[in-house]
Amino acid sequence: MVRLTPPMGWNSWNTYGQNINETLIKETADCMASSGLADLGYNYLVIDDCWSLKERDENKRLVADPEKFPNGMKAVADYVHSKGLKFGMYSCAGNLTCAGYPGSYEHEFIDAQTFAEWGVDFLKYDYCYHSDIVPGEILYRRMGLALENCGRDILFSACSWGSDETHKWIKTSAASMWRSTGDIFDSWESIKNLTKQQLALHPYNGVGCFNDMDMLVVGMYGKGNVGLGGCTDVQYKTHFSIWAFLGSPLMIGCDIRSMTSEAKSILSNKDMIAINQEPLLRQPYPLKGIWANDDLIMYARNLSDGDIAIGLFNLSSEKCVARFNMDELGLPVSLGKTLRMKDIWTQKEAKVMNGTVMWELEPYDCAVLRAKLADL
Ligand code: GLA
Repeated sequence: MVRLTPPMGWNSWNTYGQNINETLIKETADCMASSGLADLGYNYLVIDDCWSLKERDENKRLVADPEKFPNGMKAVADYVHSKGLKFGMYSCAGNLTCAGYPGSYEHEFIDAQTFAEWGVDFLKYDYCYHSDIVPGEILYRRMGLALENCGRDILFSACSWGSDETHKWIKTSAASMWRSTGDIFDSWESIKNLTKQQLALHPYNGVGCFNDMDMLVVGMYGKGNVGLGGCTDVQYKTHFSIWAFLGSPLMIGCDIRSMTSEAKSILSNKDMIAINQEPLLRQPYPLKGIWANDDLIMYARNLSDGDIAIGLFNLSSEKCVARFNMDELGLPVSLGKTLRMKDIWTQKEAKVMNGTVMWELEPYDCAVLRAKLADL
């Protein structure tokens, strides 16, 4: 099936790593359904690495670890589906997964079959321990073919971290999203880093196959498997805004069972989600701005109703003023047009003076303006 908008959901890796089990997954499914997150669009629940035994069975099939998943994966999938959610799993294009469990190399078709029988709707496919001989391009094409012929609609989520110039070949496979960055960690440095890794990759994002900037760390506060000191709520707000604005899939990574109200309200910002889920995903473009620098990132994106989304992201620890000229958006003052702009986080209106927009930003903060065309 063609995926028209970036997939949204929750993934076990960021918080739990190998400490996953049936109870945790069921409680997370309950929470996704009852907290309202599913209604906002977060509907894929994905189990990441470390779910299987270290050996395949006598028929070469993957086996769920009976200590972690005593009733098998089909039972977990059924439970997740009973909550109105979709069920995701994980494997790897190499001999082993990144954490050392069996990978799908040379077992692609049998594994796709197994996932289909269990009722899987989404497969994240990693790139550790991959062959030196068969290129990634072919490995992803293989699993893509296996999934497209397994008799079930399974979203293929490629995870080769942008390596081997993934952007040049990933759309030859059946992937609906592809990891365009290295792994995220719960620190501001990591968020900044991944944001900058995207700069050259925007032309490759679009409907049908989305650039995946990795799972969100919003609400982790340094706890869990990828915790590295954690971030503040302002930093999480900016992180979420960047991922949503640039059209990345939005996969929550925190423990949603004990989420703070701040984290929940960031993840639940409907206007931000609406920009992420825009039907067209026109390419975001960086604004040069006036006196901008590397740590002040400004982007614009044309929306399908004629509005323009403008993201002003202060990545630095200093206050700053974002300034840009409307010329850059295609609106010179000479044409008699201006913009009415509101920040979707604060509802504050932006002012335009002689075609220049100015906006003050606190350290690490952002503004995301939804701009409507108006006559001067
Ligand atoms: C890689 C991926 C992560 C996660 C781990 C699991 O590092 O990029 O997202 O899936 O493997 O081992």
